[in-house]
Amino acid sequence: MNPSLRPSNPCFSSGPTRKRPGWALDNLALSLLGRSHRSTEGLEKIRQLTSLTREVLEIPETYHVALMAGSCTVAMEAAMWSLLGPKPIDFVTYDVFGQLWVHDGLKELKLQNTRIFEAPPGFLPDLSQVNSAHDVVLTWNGTTTGVCIPDGEWISSEREGLVICDATSALFSMPFPWEKMDAVSFSWQKGLGGEAAHGMLVLSPRAVQRLESYTPPWPMPRVFRLTQGEKFLGQIFEGMTINTPSLLCIEDALDALSWCQMQGGLPAFIERSKKNLKAVESWVSETPWIELLARDPLARSSSSICLYFPEDPEDWAIPKAIAETLDKEGVAFDILGHGGSLPSLRLWGGPLVETSDLKALFPWITWAYKRVK
Ligand SMILES: Cc1ncc(COP(=O)(O)O)c(C=O)c1O
Repeated sequence: MNPSLRPSNPCFSSGPTRKRPGWALDNLALSLLGRSHRSTEGLEKIRQLTSLTREVLEIPETYHVALMAGSCTVAMEAAMWSLLGPKPIDFVTYDVFGQLWVHDGLKELKLQNTRIFEAPPGFLPDLSQVNSAHDVVLTWNGTTTGVCIPDGEWISSEREGLVICDATSALFSMPFPWEKMDAVSFSWQKGLGGEAAHGMLVLSPRAVQRLESYTPPWPMPRVFRLTQGEKFLGQIFEGMTINTPSLLCIEDALDALSWCQMQGGLPAFIERSKKNLKAVESWVSETPWIELLARDPLARSSSSICLYFPEDPEDWAIPKAIAETLDKEGVAFDILGHGGSLPSLRLWGGPLVETSDLKALFPWITWAYKRVK
C-alpha cells in the first residue's frame, strides 16, 4: 500500500532548489526588462541587490560584494586566478567541488607549493593541520557528501594567508564566519531558491590588498578580471558588472531575499534548515537500513543531507531504484546522490524545504525501499 500522505512539494533537488512558497513570475517587477543594466535604474537595481545581500547575509560593511557572470564557478575561479600564487596554498577538500578547485589549482594554474588535506565522502580532513601563514582554498559545505565545516575556530584571526571559500550550498542554511574569510563565492539556486545564472563574489579588505600588490603570471580571462593595471577595479563591486547580467534573474533574487527577510531573516532561515536536519536525523535513528553519510554530527550539513544504505554501501542499484520510483510517483524529484559521491540518496534540507514535506517523504522512502529490496 502507498503511504496516504504526499509531500506538498516534490522538489528536493540540491540545486536548483525549490522556489519559495507562493513564488510566481507575475510577482516579479518586470519593468526593467529591455533596459540597459548601465542605466541609472539598472545600476540602482544591481546596487539594491548587493546591499540587500549584504544585509540578509550579515556581510561586514568593510567587505566588497559583486555580481559576477557564470554562477558560483566563475566567482570562485575569478578569486583563485586573481589571488593565488604568492604564498603556499593549503587545499581542503572532502567533496566533488573541493576536488574541482584542487584541479584548477594544480592542473590549470599549475601552482607550486601546495598541500592537499583530503577526506573520503562522509568525513572531514584534519583542519588543525592547516597553516594560517598559507592561503587556504576550501568548500564550506560539501554538497555531494553532506559534510560541512562546523565553525571557523580553526582559522586564525591573525592569519597571514587568505581564505578563499566556495560557500554555495552553505549560505542561507547555516552560520558562516565572514570575519575569517577573504574571498567567498556563491550562487542563488541553493539556499535562496533563486534562479541559476549569476555568482556573487565577496572580498575582504585583505583580499583587495593582495589584488593591488600581486599580479599573477597567467592570462586573465575578462570575466575574472578584478583589477585594472595594478588597481582594484572597485566599480565592479559598486554595480558596474564586468558584463551584462540578467535583470530577470536579479529580480528573482531580490524576491527571494525579501521573502527571507519577511520570514525573520538569516536566523529564521538557519533555524528552518536545522529543523529539517533534525527531522532526518530522528527518522534515520529509528530506521535500521539507512544512515547519514556524514558520520560526525557536528560536521553534518543541514542543507545537502546525504543518506546511504549500510547493508549495500557500494551498490548504486538501491538508491537509483528508490529515486526512480519516487520520481515516477511524483513524490520526490532529484533525490539520487551525486555520481561523484558514494551510492546514496540526497535530500535538500535548506530553508525553503518544509519539514512537514520531509516527514511526509520518509514513509515513501521506506515504501520504495521495501519494494526494491
Ligand atoms: C559546493 C558547490 N560549489 C560549486 C558549485 C557550482 O555552482 P554553480 O553551478 O553555481 O557554478 C556547486 C553546485 O552544485 C556546489 O554545490
